[in-house]
Amino acid sequence: MSGAATWRQATARVSRQTPYGAGYLWLDLDLPRGFVVPAPGQFVQLLLPPSRTAALLPRPMSVAAVRRRGAGLTLGFLYAAVGTGTRALAALERGAAVEVLGPLGRGFPLDAPGAPVLVAGGRGVAPLLFLAEALAASGRRCTFLFGARTRAHLVGLAEARARLGRAGGRLQLCTEDGSRGERGTVMALMERLERRLPRPAVVHACGPHGMLRAIARWGLSRGVPCHLAMESVMACGTGVCRGCPLPRSPQAKAGFEGAAAPSLFGNRDYAMCCTEGPVFEAHDLDWDRIE
Ligand SMILES: Cc1cc2nc3c(=O)[nH]c(=O)nc-3n(C[C@H](O)[C@H](O)[C@H](O)COP(=O)(O)OP(=O)(O)OC[C@H]3O[C@@H](n4cnc5c(N)ncnc54)[C@H](O)[C@@H]3O)c2cc1C
Ligand code: FES
Repeated sequence: MSGAATWRQATARVSRQTPYGAGYLWLDLDLPRGFVVPAPGQFVQLLLPPSRTAALLPRPMSVAAVRRRGAGLTLGFLYAAVGTGTRALAALERGAAVEVLGPLGRGFPLDAPGAPVLVAGGRGVAPLLFLAEALAASGRRCTFLFGARTRAHLVGLAEARARLGRAGGRLQLCTEDGSRGERGTVMALMERLERRLPRPAVVHACGPHGMLRAIARWGLSRGVPCHLAMESVMACGTGVCRGCPLPRSPQAKAGFEGAAAPSLFGNRDYAMCCTEGPVFEAHDLDWDRIE
């Protein structure tokens, strides 16, 4: 576990803030020259000026889109305004300043062998839209399963259709109430489609931890590699505060022996979600101990 940190802090400007339905918004931030291009699955920490919010700490957000803009970058985010920080973010108008630290963490392994199957639950669609595009750019088409509670919660569906249309991927939908696509969870959809999934498959998923746990167990029992984008409450985003530990699996603990520890990546028992993740392979974590 090594690799030079490429993150830096920069002042970004809001260039777009658009309602996306079901309480979600799409945010575009213009970053200046020098900000390193994020990879799919990486995230940034967004810090608002104290005049805008009582939130002292930055809030982590997955990158959903990257566009080059002259010498700079525009990063897109799909987010829900759920609390102090994200509601303040939602109130920012065009031109407002946001401090951005990033890109942070380790993203999805783009070169993992196998036919990519992308599985999104609710707002977990954000980093997977970016991943689908990056895979397409390297000539790899994906199967994209997208599930949510209701049709209204399939946020970013138009965006997913447009991007997969360009990338040549196949989109399968489901909702728990049956209002769009198949009725049931995305895990049930995956099990039903199992025999029709491309082989050998490699799964990349993002969504609630319960969904990711089910996918991890599915993959571990079948020997299908699964890369899962996790979340944790984060303060620093860089491995320093030790606030985002995730329990390692017995297998991962055994493999950790002899490594120099603790480090910014965590210790033998816990991986830091912000540095070693947020994307983990299923066998890295102890799914019985993840909430
Ligand atoms: C790596 C990473 C990527 C993320 N990407 C996205 C994204 O693309 N879109 C998006 O909408 N959100 C994303 N989140 C979650 C987002 O950071 C939280 O919703 C946000 O921090 C909440 O801040 P707040 O001040 O609005 O809420 P708070 O007032 O701090 O909390 C409001 C509610 O949100 C819960 N909450 C706080 N932090 C998190 C968290 N990290 N994960 C889950 N629940 C949390 C709290 O327990 C509470 O119930 C991501 C989180 C991580 C760790
Ligand atoms: S957020 Fe500080 S160690 Fe992960």
